Amino acid sequence: MNLKDIYINFFVSKGHKQIPSAPVVPENDPSVLFNTAGMQPLIPYLMGQLHPYGTRLCDYQKCVRTNDLEEVGDTTHHTFFEMLGNWSLGDYFKEESIAWSFELLTKHMHIPVERLAVTVFAGKDDIPFDEESYNKWLSLGISKERIAKTIEDNFWIAGESGPCGPDTEIFYFRSEEEIPKVFDPEDSRWVEIWNNVFMQYHKDNEGNVSALPKKNVDTGMGVERTTAILEGVNDNYLSSIWKDVIALISQISGLPYEGNERSMRIIADHLRTSVFISADPAGIKPSNTDQGYILRRLIRRAIRHAKTLNIDINSDWDLKIAELILSKYENYYKELADNRAVVLEVLKNEKIKFNRTLEKGLREFEKATRVRNDIDGETAFHLFDTYGFPLELTIELAHEKGLQVDEKGFASRFKEHQEKSRTASAGKFKGGLAGNGEIETKYHTATHLLNAALKIVVGPDVHQKGSNITEERMRFDFSCDHKLTDEEKKQTEDLVNKWIALGLDVTCEKMNKEDAINSGAECMFIEKYPDIVTVYSIGEVSKELCGGPHVKNTKELGHFVIKKEEASSAGVRRIKGVLE
Ligand code: SER
Repeated sequence: MNLKDIYINFFVSKGHKQIPSAPVVPENDPSVLFNTAGMQPLIPYLMGQLHPYGTRLCDYQKCVRTNDLEEVGDTTHHTFFEMLGNWSLGDYFKEESIAWSFELLTKHMHIPVERLAVTVFAGKDDIPFDEESYNKWLSLGISKERIAKTIEDNFWIAGESGPCGPDTEIFYFRSEEEIPKVFDPEDSRWVEIWNNVFMQYHKDNEGNVSALPKKNVDTGMGVERTTAILEGVNDNYLSSIWKDVIALISQISGLPYEGNERSMRIIADHLRTSVFISADPAGIKPSNTDQGYILRRLIRRAIRHAKTLNIDINSDWDLKIAELILSKYENYYKELADNRAVVLEVLKNEKIKFNRTLEKGLREFEKATRVRNDIDGETAFHLFDTYGFPLELTIELAHEKGLQVDEKGFASRFKEHQEKSRTASAGKFKGGLAGNGEIETKYHTATHLLNAALKIVVGPDVHQKGSNITEERMRFDFSCDHKLTDEEKKQTEDLVNKWIALGLDVTCEKMNKEDAINSGAECMFIEKYPDIVTVYSIGEVSKELCGGPHVKNTKELGHFVIKKEEASSAGVRRIKGVLE
């Protein structure tokens, strides 16, 4: 049986409810790009909110950590991993948590006790030595010499503030060598496999620690590492999680794993993470910002490494690998099965985009390194801006030649560029997505009507994804999973024209951003707006956050006609329309 099943079955047998993995892009936490730990989606419940599934929970959670993306390529690093966890929300505490961890490891995962060692919190400031955990381990048969008391590594908190508490970490001796009697947590042959956190405190932003309303348990175990340990391999990529993916890459490239490990691991890891990010309900697409940029970097880095293995990158090598990954995981994550086509489309499109500039960019890189020793910020930015080379790709290429990249110089050019585009986009919002001429103003108002009409005809899930206005036409991109039928197009046109004919007044008010959202006003990029926003309403039919300008009354618009309806990108349709 697979580790995930063993783990979940065990905790279900101890009265836990299995909860589904939360999306990899946090749903209600804009402060982080991805879920980085199993407990992250549970923070409100650890803080005291009641969980609908009760007080004993377990799951496997999708996590993405990209801060050490460059480390991927060795035997243990991954940008995506699954974390097994069990939680007590004010239910059991240290006794049961430790006893169950021990039972699962020794009885169900068959790990000999002599291969185990633990750390417990030694005590610091007002928080005392964790004697209860210490004694519990002793009572289970872990010897004194195998229990280390530490401070730094035995107090767990996600980041700077939030729920936290002392923890006890469980280590496994991963070497063929003789097992030392005394456990030294600094000895790398001992690897941490499980972390049981006793969350009973909360640290606020000022650093003040207070007791939580309830004492909780939060444990986390990495699937990749533990699977490798149980299967007795020293390279995670040789465990059953990766073996067939590596074999496929080897088959596609015609090269053995040995001697090509780094590139093969990077391809396997980055494609798996890309599959999970693009299958997430958040609908992330490669872009130059936030999660989209991470996705872009992962795909592009995988492509570059495929090239170093002499894989014909124009073939469907990446889709084959992605399909294998999808089939390995879709029984556990339904969204992978549901979004299979989206995932493949994302990979395909990003490859097409990158291929257009990759060769030229590589030539540019060669040219730059022929005449200069190191890569300056300007060149790194040029490679990024013109050829789509994420910074770490340039760094990696440079390092392969023993050269350096001026990262600070890049950062300052990048900032300059961002400021310029921010000003440009602020201008866009202020000027109503286009110039302020009479006809553009009309199109601007018509855009709001079209948005409102599509919501009625196609459904409330329609949201604006983009807009562009010229003197000749308006273009409107919106989320929609299908090509509009002739009937839908006709109904949309008719509705807009009906509203025009009704002569609805267009009114504008200034509001606090939050009030505006709560009042149901539409908006595209909430974070781009200032705290006080202008909201335009058109009669009772439309209400949107917008900088204007707009016409005073819809009767000024004339007659609206949809000229074209087409796909813009996956899940996004585009309408071009005119006012006659
Ligand atoms: N929150 C702890 C960790 O991430 C245990 O789940 O290690």
